Amino acid sequence: MAGPDDTQLHSYDLLARQLIPGYASLARLSVALLAASPLAAASGARVLVAGCGTGAELVEARRQRPDWKLTALDPSAEMLNEARQRLGTDDRESIHWQQSTVEALAKGEPFAGALSVLVLQSLPDDGSKLAYLTALATQLAPGGQLVLIDLMRAQRPVLQTQVEQAWLGFQQAGGLTPQAPAAAPLTEALHPIGLSRLMALVNAAGFGDPARIFQALDYEGFLLQRSN
Ligand SMILES: C[S@@+](CC[C@H](N)C(=O)[O-])C[C@H]1O[C@@H](n2cnc3c(N)ncnc32)[C@H](O)[C@@H]1O
Repeated sequence: MAGPDDTQLHSYDLLARQLIPGYASLARLSVALLAASPLAAASGARVLVAGCGTGAELVEARRQRPDWKLTALDPSAEMLNEARQRLGTDDRESIHWQQSTVEALAKGEPFAGALSVLVLQSLPDDGSKLAYLTALATQLAPGGQLVLIDLMRAQRPVLQTQVEQAWLGFQQAGGLTPQAPAAAPLTEALHPIGLSRLMALVNAAGFGDPARIFQALDYEGFLLQRSN
């Protein structure tokens, strides 16, 4: 199925595509990865979309796995509202909507899998990242998997300047004007960490070592499995 053209995209999603290399296929890739996981492969699996924002992962999950029992969670009423409007009536009604952080979500029936796309990057590494990851692990069944995608801290001292120039060039070629206000959630107050710190945090939270499944410049994606 063809994707939406630019005029159909919410301004957040258009900006995300202009800013983040590979964003247009991130939701599709994330859902496909989770759908191939042992627990979420089962028909009717419960899946948590953490920080669902304007709903990119929800649209894709409905397309690939209409049988999944989805919980769409975000602390922002505005984002949840955008996501609700984006989904068709039937899809909207079949999703469990939750205005909350993951950390504040009450523990219920465990989830078979979870998606977290561009959420951890906004939390400071002062215990907040660990609390978020621990809450995700707690919500998953043992063996449940998490697809985690975020901006990471660069670890390439030699080529860093060239990569930064390339990223700017990518944005300009996509038509992004500097300091577009709607890009704020994607550009301001971000707290990227390096791979070794991520490994320490996910292990402490109750996951095994992360397997990298995506990288475009400093945006990286990992598949994580909750330890038993
Ligand atoms: C940059 S947006 C990403 C939205 C969507 N996943 C996407 O890729 O387009 C990050 C979202 O995470 C939400 N968020 C921030 N902290 C959160 C937390 N602790 N738990 C769940 N969601 C959170 C924000 O409200 C925001 O909607």
